[in-house]
Amino acid sequence: MKVLETADAMRAWSEEQRRADKSIGFVPTMGALHEGHASLMRAAAKGNDIAIASIFVNPTQFAPHEDFDKYPRTWDADLKICEDCGVVAIYAPRKDAIYPPGYATYVNVEGLSEGLCGVTRPIFFRGVATVVTKLFNAVHPHRAYFGQKDAQQCAVIRRMTLDLEFGIEIVILPTVREADGLAMSSRNRYLSAEERTRALCLSRSLFGAEQMLRDGVRDAKSIVDFVRDGMAEVQIDYVELVDADTMQPVEHIEKPSVLAVAAFVGPARLIDNVVLNPK
Ligand code: PAJ
Repeated sequence: MKVLETADAMRAWSEEQRRADKSIGFVPTMGALHEGHASLMRAAAKGNDIAIASIFVNPTQFAPHEDFDKYPRTWDADLKICEDCGVVAIYAPRKDAIYPPGYATYVNVEGLSEGLCGVTRPIFFRGVATVVTKLFNAVHPHRAYFGQKDAQQCAVIRRMTLDLEFGIEIVILPTVREADGLAMSSRNRYLSAEERTRALCLSRSLFGAEQMLRDGVRDAKSIVDFVRDGMAEVQIDYVELVDADTMQPVEHIEKPSVLAVAAFVGPARLIDNVVLNPK
């Protein structure tokens, strides 16, 4: 497995693959890899001639009070997971290579970046859109793979890819969960045993909402109230039912809509969602 540390080296290697007519699937990550990431990497390896992953903890998507410094860094274990999943090259740039002194350019996806996670994390999606643009430019993939776990991030990346005409196919794959329902996340490592047990109320409430939908409930308020009640033991950031593309609130479920939650549990801020499909 190759490890490339600069955009020039990454681009040169990637262009060589393209000249040899290889299709390239790309999985951007911040490392601390788990089965959620692995599912994306396996899909990228299966659906393309070559799979590339990036590992870069992106400073511009963290606010000064957030967990950039203590974000888990598990390089050796990450390499093994990449290799096992069929990744052939890892793009792992240094912070200064992505943001050298004097760096001044940011990508802002308006509207979509402002609600939900954008309320408590106002600079988050600007950081994500900027770094993903730079990663796309270096890797120049045919397809890029993202997890539904970060539903708003998916909407932002899809919009940006269309608006900036990257010509990359964006593939979104389902959330991978622990056996007890907890959505896998690099941040689950921050939880004590007691906090982890309480964190289960996120997925439990979302699954309860899916049952309400199956029972015929369609109005957003009943569903959101039910989920809020189910999450009483954690500090709720938001519970919202939104359109999957616009991230705007829906009052009545007529087409597949995203029921998204965020909560603070001990030191971690956790997010989760389910797609409620009325059909
Ligand atoms: P990170 O949190 O490392 O996630 C990388 C990718 O893995 C994202 O597409 C995310 O949605 C996906 N993922 C995380 N947990 C998942 C789960 N339980 N099931 C399925 N997919 C899951 O998201 C980021 O990094 C960054 O914002 C990034 C896009 C790399 C830009 O810095």
